[in-house]
Amino acid sequence: MTLFVGFMCTGRGRGLEIKDCDRKDGQGDSSVGRSVREKRQAGCRVGKPSVGSEWEMQNKKSAFRQKKCGQSFSERSGMCNFVPGKRTFNNNRVMVNYKDLGLVNTREMFKRAINGGYAIPAFNYNNMEQLQAIIKAAADKKSPVILQVSKGARNYANQTLLRYMAEGAVEYAKELGCHHPEIVLHLDHGDSFELCKSCVDMGFSSVMIDGSHLPYDENVALTKKVVEYAHQFDVTVEGELGVLAGVEDEVVAEHHTYTRPEEVVDFVTKTGCDSLAISIGTSHGAYKFKPEQCHVDPATGRLVPPPLAFDVLDGVMKELPGFPIVLHGSSSVPQEEVDTINKYGGALKAAVGIPEEELRKAAKSAVCKITIDSDSRLAMTAAVRLVLTDKPAEFDPRKYLGPAREEMKKLYMHKCEKVLGSAGKA
Ligand code: G3H
Ligand code: 13P
Ligand code: ZN
Repeated sequence: MTLFVGFMCTGRGRGLEIKDCDRKDGQGDSSVGRSVREKRQAGCRVGKPSVGSEWEMQNKKSAFRQKKCGQSFSERSGMCNFVPGKRTFNNNRVMVNYKDLGLVNTREMFKRAINGGYAIPAFNYNNMEQLQAIIKAAADKKSPVILQVSKGARNYANQTLLRYMAEGAVEYAKELGCHHPEIVLHLDHGDSFELCKSCVDMGFSSVMIDGSHLPYDENVALTKKVVEYAHQFDVTVEGELGVLAGVEDEVVAEHHTYTRPEEVVDFVTKTGCDSLAISIGTSHGAYKFKPEQCHVDPATGRLVPPPLAFDVLDGVMKELPGFPIVLHGSSSVPQEEVDTINKYGGALKAAVGIPEEELRKAAKSAVCKITIDSDSRLAMTAAVRLVLTDKPAEFDPRKYLGPAREEMKKLYMHKCEKVLGSAGKA
């Protein structure tokens, strides 16, 4: 197949011929395994599009949208003084569409997960080692994956860097043999319209607006506003109803407020959100239950938490048949990791997570996204503590972050294959 793209703008992209690049949008090169030079020689577009070509594509999309709603992109996005060809807006921010980065939104992924009785893993990343481990595990297990970026991650690692890392992750997955990687870049617990908009504008393919701490009507209004903006760019939106106990968005809730099944139809109808995070007893962090809420397993001496409120999940599914449901706070807090951390100088007391058996059960239902962060933090910390204790003279970060990355990869592969059932679904 030979595609010919004639570029209107002056610049390097003019008259570029694309051969044998089987992606229909002309963005990629599926000829994995060939060197960049070989691909270029074969006439394939490799790497980032030129300034001219990218602008031209954006321009085409913009003209199309303008035709559709009679308003230019910059008018509708609230940005002005757009400088054609320079890809800058008045606040110097570049507008990026996730499709140009090779990312996908959650729509089709969730549909297949519900029909197939499995859940997509949503793993948070803040650094290169986490991202490498996630992508390697997903590639190895042929699993679709959601890369989650929290507000805290943006503050820690820089939003632009994280976005380029996600773009790099797509290319890395191709290098690892995934011809069409199914990777979502998702904002985790967005707490304002501005934050969600910024992520949409920067190339995220999915955002969560978490208005769960707000009064119901305010949650509806905020979620609807984000949906209206995000859907213009085919970015999917996750809303939340019900409050998870613990710390969420710097807000501390003493107790769970389970999702009220009688509210979900109204919420989803009024907001137009694409998926709904619910509260059924999970919570964030490594201390999901107080010891007094648990009983002790006589065989292992471990704390066993109370079961999740599956009756609430059933109620939600009855009201919203086939609608994508999301579970947050779903780390299992493996005791081996906690033990390793404590053995090598840590002090994690009475850490308790969600038993994997419960997650397996949830994954078979309309729960099509399960979010996991703390387990990765535990795996990383355990490996680092072990190496540094065993080899106190070691000071090359690769020597302790390398093993940490390996442990995280094992953890992610385990989640895909043995818990969520997403292995082999990409
Ligand atoms: O929802 C919580 C996630 O684990 C992200 O945590 O806000 O500390 O990055 P973070
Ligand atoms: P955990 O703290 O249980 O890993 O939850 C992660 C999460 O929900 C991210 O939003
Ligand atoms: Zn969460």
